[in-house]
Amino acid sequence: MTPAPENLLHRPLTTPKCTLGCPLLDRCLAGGFPCNSITELFAESGCGKTQLCLQLALSAQLPVSLGGLSGSSLYIHTEFPFPSRRLHQLSHAFRSTYPAIFKTDPCDSIFVHAVHSADQLLDILPKMESFLSDPKTHLPVKLIVIDSIAALFRSEFENSPVELKRRSSLFFKISGKLKLLAKRFGLAVVVTNQVVDLIVPEGINGMRIGNLACLYSSGRRVCPALGLAWANCVNSRLFLSRNEEVEKEEKGLVDVDANRVCTRTRRRLHVVFAPHLPEGSCELVITREGVFGVE
Ligand code: GTP
Ligand code: MG
Repeated sequence: MTPAPENLLHRPLTTPKCTLGCPLLDRCLAGGFPCNSITELFAESGCGKTQLCLQLALSAQLPVSLGGLSGSSLYIHTEFPFPSRRLHQLSHAFRSTYPAIFKTDPCDSIFVHAVHSADQLLDILPKMESFLSDPKTHLPVKLIVIDSIAALFRSEFENSPVELKRRSSLFFKISGKLKLLAKRFGLAVVVTNQVVDLIVPEGINGMRIGNLACLYSSGRRVCPALGLAWANCVNSRLFLSRNEEVEKEEKGLVDVDANRVCTRTRRRLHVVFAPHLPEGSCELVITREGVFGVE
């Protein structure tokens, strides 16, 4: 069904955002992950996409006065198994930080659903509408996470024109439906994506979307997976990088050979593009308690 035209003057001047529970990360994102649109979080493996999404699913439950959305979340995972142990670890830390707010386990307000293929995702999106209208929980659903979209498209499609067209068509159908749900229910939609090595410096035929110049991870120049068609499907694009920095550790003057070279992992969250944000970045660390910005 085609949605009715929208009078932009009736839109509120500010978009609600979902805090990450960290003032430094929130400052980098001007308050957090925005509602009513799709935010893509992309990074190579082990950079913290899942960790950040789990943290977001917990902080979405915070009251609006603390930067949350007073909402539960729907976590669609396409990689297996779902990291329940990490969610409980984070949830435990979260409850200790906000003992007055979480009398019951916050994990109870995170609905987890497994999806195995792009067609299955497209199939369940219309059914989600009735679930979102009546989630059978005291908190309305305010966040949908798809972790990850890349896993659904990684091996299912061949590199032929027909298959690429089918793949792009699925991108637009999935993202179109997600955008409709985001607007209708005021949801923040977060989708994770993988990276691929950037072989041609300025993209294929010079076509590129966003600020790709800064995208280095593990010393390699990378770009988001799934190409130009998918890049047009997301409203905002965030990147998590990880780079090893060499630090020389002086062991003293007695034995010069004892000087050791150590490496330290520096992680950053980058805004690649977003309609409401300038380019920017923030250093972060990943601990047992979650993902936090550092100055
Ligand atoms: P992929 O899903 O493989 O693409 O990686 P990702 O970007 O989702 O990274 P993920 O969030 O899984 O991992 C981020 C960091 O968390 C990594 O450095 C892991 O070492 C760390 N990590 C993985 N499992 C656990 C865990 O059970 N507890 C804690 N505290 N950290 C973990
Ligand atoms: Mg992950």
